[in-house]
Amino acid sequence: TAMTDASNSPSSSILTPVLSEPWDDDKPWRLDTYLKHDGYQGLKKALAKHPDEVIQTVKDSGLRGRGGAGFPTGMKWGFIPQGDGNPHYLVVNADESEPGTCKDIPLMYANPHVLIEGVIIAAYAIRSSHAFIYLRGEVVSVLRRLQAAVQEAKDAGYVGQDVLGSGFDLEITVHAGAGAYICGEETALLDSLEGRRGQPRLRPPFPAVAGLYASPTCVNNVESIASVPSILNRGVEWFRGMGSEKSPGFTLYSLSGHVKRPGQYEAPLGVTLRELLDLAGGVREGHRIKFWTPGGSSTPMFTDEHLDVPLDYEGVGAAGSMLGTKALQIFDETVCVVRAVLRWTEFYAHESCGKCTPCREGTYWLVQILERLEKGDGTEQDLETLLDVADNINGKSFCALGDGAASPIFSSLKYFRDEYVAHLTHRSCPFDPAASTVWA
Ligand code: NAI
Ligand code: SF4
Repeated sequence: TAMTDASNSPSSSILTPVLSEPWDDDKPWRLDTYLKHDGYQGLKKALAKHPDEVIQTVKDSGLRGRGGAGFPTGMKWGFIPQGDGNPHYLVVNADESEPGTCKDIPLMYANPHVLIEGVIIAAYAIRSSHAFIYLRGEVVSVLRRLQAAVQEAKDAGYVGQDVLGSGFDLEITVHAGAGAYICGEETALLDSLEGRRGQPRLRPPFPAVAGLYASPTCVNNVESIASVPSILNRGVEWFRGMGSEKSPGFTLYSLSGHVKRPGQYEAPLGVTLRELLDLAGGVREGHRIKFWTPGGSSTPMFTDEHLDVPLDYEGVGAAGSMLGTKALQIFDETVCVVRAVLRWTEFYAHESCGKCTPCREGTYWLVQILERLEKGDGTEQDLETLLDVADNINGKSFCALGDGAASPIFSSLKYFRDEYVAHLTHRSCPFDPAASTVWA
């Protein structure tokens, strides 16, 4: 992994391997390997507490959702009503699909037990006896690995009837989707899990009130749940010793694109891209950063002026973007920004679920205009129309996919309007696609 490559670097001390710690071991996905890394110790400590105390511990830790929105995890667990007589469900959102995002899939592949341990603790806390892991459909290898790990956990008494003699019963179902980006939106995911076509539901009611089968449901991202066992095992103070007051803890940053050593870098919230680039060997020889995304293509892009922005929820927000999934996609000066935005927009148009008009029609129009502009067939008026269409999608769509589609349009025009204009004056794309390794 990239973690090992970086271990001799001057700033490798900023690394805080917790989730990725066993990744370089022999067969890290097996239960016996996980047990050598304090596996299932957090669960034992959790079962010794009252479920409410477990929720309080996660609240006190300040853990925030790692799926993109950063919602406080303990608070979400606290929303599940107790004593209501309804079944409660825990659903892990493992439908990782945001462009550039590649942390949950390798995490589950390398270390499925840290997720399973987190699932058991979370289900115990919210008093759920049935948890689901909804996995992105394309990754069959991860599906098999998760299923095997759940079986291992069952055989060892961590899952099933009377977990470790505590009286708590839990069943875990691993379910593979069919490969639709929209099924990562939590309510579309629930529809899909119920056997319907995955399309977002109106919120409120939030899943915590009426989720799976209309019952109180907690939907959490893989990395959020996988972060819980270490908090229970090592304590709130330890967790809060990393990151900042409002964004505490460690997290997985995924570096991709024009960096020498792409991969997962686990570090405290609040590190900067400059520090991470140090670990990743910098950009390609003789090149410089032109633009990058802090958290996938749906988060407004940054430029080389933002290398020192603290990568936590507040820091990235104050600089005009969002931390999102911490998918840092790096593009050097050989990349045509119009072409990159066109590619992303094609993705959103393809994945638009069609439920609401601004996104269904608007993403289609954005692609048409961007294709014209990129080829050099556009006009000045097209730039205004592009902004106008994006404006009619942003904040006016039914779910976050629409806002995500508008985001690269706004940010690319903010920082690189000149480059759009250069396509008009050249009557063609001024970039040589062969020079870029990413978009050629
Ligand atoms: P959101 O901010 O609307 O909700 C976040 C979570 O908090 C949800 O689970 C929601 O149910 C809960 N919540 C919010 N207000 C609540 C309330 N009043 N009562 C009860 N629960 C409440 O964000 P959303 O739309 O769920 O997610 C958007 C994010 O997803 C984006 O920031 C983006 O970065 C990320 N994303 C991640 C992808 C991935 O592959 N990991 C793919 C696409 C987007
Ligand atoms: Fe579907 Fe797009 Fe509307 Fe979301 S914004 S409901 S993906 S059409």
